Amino acid sequence: MRKRLITSALPYVNNAPHLGNIIGCVLSADVYARFSRLQGAETLYICGTDGYGTATENKARQAGKTPKEICEEYHVIHEAVYKHFNISFDAFGKTFEPGHSEVVQSIYKDLDEKGALEEQVSSQYFCTSCDTFLADRLIIGECPKCGYEEARGDQCDNCGTLLDPTELKNTQCNEHKTLPELRETKHLYLKLDKLQPQLEEWQNRVGKEGHWTANAIRETASWMKRGLAPRPITRDLKWGVDVPREGYEDKVFYVWFDAPIGYISITKKYFPDTWQDWWQGDDVDLYQFLGKDNIPFHSIIFPGALLGTGKNWNKVHHLNSTEYLNYENTKFSKSRNVGIFGTDVMELEYPIDYWRFYLLSTRPESKDTNFLWQDFFDKVNGELNDNIGNLVNRVILLYLKNFDAKISDIKFEDPTHKELIDGLGPAFEKITAHMELGEFREAMKSILAVGKTANKFFQDQAPWAQVKENSELGQATLTLLLYVVRGLAVALQPFIPDSSLTILKSLMSEDANWGDIFNFDSLAGKEVTSYQQVFHKMDNSKLEGLKKRFSGNVNEFAKLDIAVAQIKEVEEHPSADHLYVIKVNDGEKDLMSASALRKHYQLEDLKDKKVLIVRNLAAADLRGVKSEAMLLTAEHRKKLELLSNDEWKLGSVVSIDGVDQQIVKDMEFGEFSAIKMNVEENTAKYDGDDLLLEGKPIKTRLVAKGKIK
Ligand code: 2FM
Ligand code: ZN
Repeated sequence: MRKRLITSALPYVNNAPHLGNIIGCVLSADVYARFSRLQGAETLYICGTDGYGTATENKARQAGKTPKEICEEYHVIHEAVYKHFNISFDAFGKTFEPGHSEVVQSIYKDLDEKGALEEQVSSQYFCTSCDTFLADRLIIGECPKCGYEEARGDQCDNCGTLLDPTELKNTQCNEHKTLPELRETKHLYLKLDKLQPQLEEWQNRVGKEGHWTANAIRETASWMKRGLAPRPITRDLKWGVDVPREGYEDKVFYVWFDAPIGYISITKKYFPDTWQDWWQGDDVDLYQFLGKDNIPFHSIIFPGALLGTGKNWNKVHHLNSTEYLNYENTKFSKSRNVGIFGTDVMELEYPIDYWRFYLLSTRPESKDTNFLWQDFFDKVNGELNDNIGNLVNRVILLYLKNFDAKISDIKFEDPTHKELIDGLGPAFEKITAHMELGEFREAMKSILAVGKTANKFFQDQAPWAQVKENSELGQATLTLLLYVVRGLAVALQPFIPDSSLTILKSLMSEDANWGDIFNFDSLAGKEVTSYQQVFHKMDNSKLEGLKKRFSGNVNEFAKLDIAVAQIKEVEEHPSADHLYVIKVNDGEKDLMSASALRKHYQLEDLKDKKVLIVRNLAAADLRGVKSEAMLLTAEHRKKLELLSNDEWKLGSVVSIDGVDQQIVKDMEFGEFSAIKMNVEENTAKYDGDDLLLEGKPIKTRLVAKGKIK
């Protein structure tokens, strides 16, 4: 059997991983590694943390620490979380240490010697106050197309044009609002254009021999079709692997150049004698597990770099990329406290196998999926407990009640027994086939289906009656079921290793291997040892509390009812000289509003404008005028602008990604003003999330940054 080198994408180490991160890489790779070991293949599972990149630098700056300190701190957290999840790494290393840099630098040297690199000089903005070159999006200036004054270096938010920072007029560092200098800077580029034919040849071959998930094939094909261009592999940053080249003293390798080399450097560190066999041997297949955002780095750029060295590095054979896991129909967010993070799982009382089981049953294999508390409870209670647990319990207990613990050598001759065995053959083959392809969710479905079949068989055979009427037949039925239980426990081992082991122990079968998922003769002579119930139901009364605890503050937003309305009539307020009295219509009814717009808008300019109104505020009396709707504005210092766009549809409701409206009728003003909305980069936001109207962000023109009131 060929050796299997298995990797999980190296998680960034500036945050705790959430459930989506965990199922996307380490847990998926773990299932494969466990499966592979059960098959008897020589297996090595490598992972570790990815330390470099601007996100870590930013986090460090915010926390007043060095990037290295941040990495070390979070490395410990990642390690603890994965241990809790029972992830069976053969090595868990890190990229931010000297051994890693050495490997990266030696690959760089090979690339350089083979002529796979070129230098390109470009002019980039340098801020002397920041003392660095500025990333495109940190530069602002006047858009050459529309004249908008706060366009970003990469794009104008007003007219949408994609920009190069050098096209802007009145350029500024967004942080210091000073003019940055244009300085020439050179970078090293990997000549992917030259490598394209070789990459294609390799992709065609591996496409036949190995297996790539559909999203990986699709995205890779589209990159190749567009044609590859040279890609910079260095950056003007401080935190990263040093570039050993004259003139590059102030530069580092780009994080996406060094990180995948981490797979190699970590193997080298932990297996100094055999790492080359794993990475260059002919008898090894490389299996890589990652999330969809990592695809081109693993299918094109990293293999391209390896090809460019001219050495025979092993490149990905099975590329297994998941879609995203969301949390209760919204995105996980550390800053908003939404969703469950590894550290939360460590605090909750549930056995880790319940989490593994659920995450794998809902693994985003062909589309994005959701972690839903209700579904979690339902699946653990209905499948793990009622299906698998129930089968194991009743088979073992009924067996022990009626027979000697020692298992007899029984030939299954009864036609119904033969029929069960015949049916299970293809079922177990299907499980194996899904496992081979890394289709764990499908494999799990097939395993649970076997559980159902076995439960039905138990019910139909009624062994509790058989043992009374025909003890021999009853014994054969129950013994056959012991084999099925063992087969299921083996098949479930990669998914729920602790529980599987408990079951296998009660059949003296801890050493079972994958072949035993369909094996009806090797239990004879073993004993059914004392048995403890493996699964327990999750208490539904805990559900609501858990949902609340992890819902963060998004629910606040869900209380708001904001919709598009059109201004029908405007008058000056009879006694307050800053107010207009405005009648709006939201497509269904007229609503009155008293709004402080007189300093900013001419009366006639307001008529017919489409605006956003808050519809569920408790009506207020504003100097004798009843105000039942509030017009939303963006404000900054003296600038004020109505959120308005004539293309909006009357009555459309504002949402944020994934949050269901739970409108509270007649909200008090105090409660409303506690819900902070703002404008950043000309986009209306709630707590970092874009406000959306029919899926599109809400843009401002005048106020680039400010509050929404
Ligand atoms: O997306 C991420 O979390 C990256 N840190 C993955 C890197 S995978 C590999 F290249 F190291
Ligand atoms: Zn600056």
